[in-house]
Amino acid sequence: MRIAPLLLKSSSSSSRWIARQSRDPYVKSRSGSGNSSSVSQNQPAYRSRSSFKLLSLAAKHPSLLGAGGSKKVIVDLGAAPGGWSQVVSHLTKGKGKVFALDILDIEPIPGVEVIKGDFLSEDVREQLRIRTIRSNPTIQNQDDDQDKDKKDEEDTSTSTSTSASQGMVDCVLSDMMAPMTGNKTRDISLSLQLCAAATVFARGVLKKAEKGEEAKKELGKGKGKGKKIWPGGNLIIKFFAHPDMNEFRSLELDPWFGKVVVEKPKESRSESSEAYWVCLGYKGDPTLR
Ligand SMILES: C[S@@+](CC[C@H](N)C(=O)[O-])C[C@H]1O[C@@H](n2cnc3c(N)ncnc32)[C@H](O)[C@@H]1O
Repeated sequence: MRIAPLLLKSSSSSSRWIARQSRDPYVKSRSGSGNSSSVSQNQPAYRSRSSFKLLSLAAKHPSLLGAGGSKKVIVDLGAAPGGWSQVVSHLTKGKGKVFALDILDIEPIPGVEVIKGDFLSEDVREQLRIRTIRSNPTIQNQDDDQDKDKKDEEDTSTSTSTSASQGMVDCVLSDMMAPMTGNKTRDISLSLQLCAAATVFARGVLKKAEKGEEAKKELGKGKGKGKKIWPGGNLIIKFFAHPDMNEFRSLELDPWFGKVVVEKPKESRSESSEAYWVCLGYKGDPTLR
């Protein structure tokens, strides 16, 4: 076997990587050495480059994390090392309730409830769903009443029924990404699996627009002035461009939300086929409307 060309290839690709990292304003900012005009000096030190993608998406869609001033409930899927959760905590001024889930460990973040587990496991998704319900005191009281009526019901998970959980969450974020195998068919299939799991989960927990409720224009003075605010919760999902993904969007997202747009934040590397679906205004099951 000729090892030398392999070594050469690997060392030149790692020096390319190092050079790219050293030029990257987001990486510089993360390590505290940045002096980039595109990254504010007052920005807290975020744990991931990905944080800046969410900041960009939120700047473009000011009601992304939920409209109005009430306390928000946000679910962050594929949250490690915690950059997006830090951004959410920062943007909601610590007033929201954030659930951060990943297979990997996440160092504690103030105001963020960390859950370790594989989102593709039904048990893990159910645990997360129950925890979002428990974050709402109204539902907790309803559950206590139900428990009194149904004394024989001992399993706490059955008391947090699907109807009770519907409508608790303002925004579901998914930056989940399975490790790349290099086999394009397999990578797209894994990514699609994560997108599908995030979508089905979001449909079960997002706040739903009332029938006939329309999008309103933001009247305030801020950045959002004149932009539409969609009633109902929002969903953001990372995906990788592929025809199967387009089909997924038109069947599983477009009919369920007021508006779905594809965003490629400027912080996302141009050579990567990753992008985000920003799904605004959850409307519920199209066959039931
Ligand atoms: C791009 S990183 C997320 C970065 C994060 N948004 C941040 O800003 O710190 C993708 C994450 O998805 C997680 N992930 C992939 N598959 C997962 C699964 N089945 N369940 C939970 N997390 C998963 C990975 O462990 C990884 O931490």
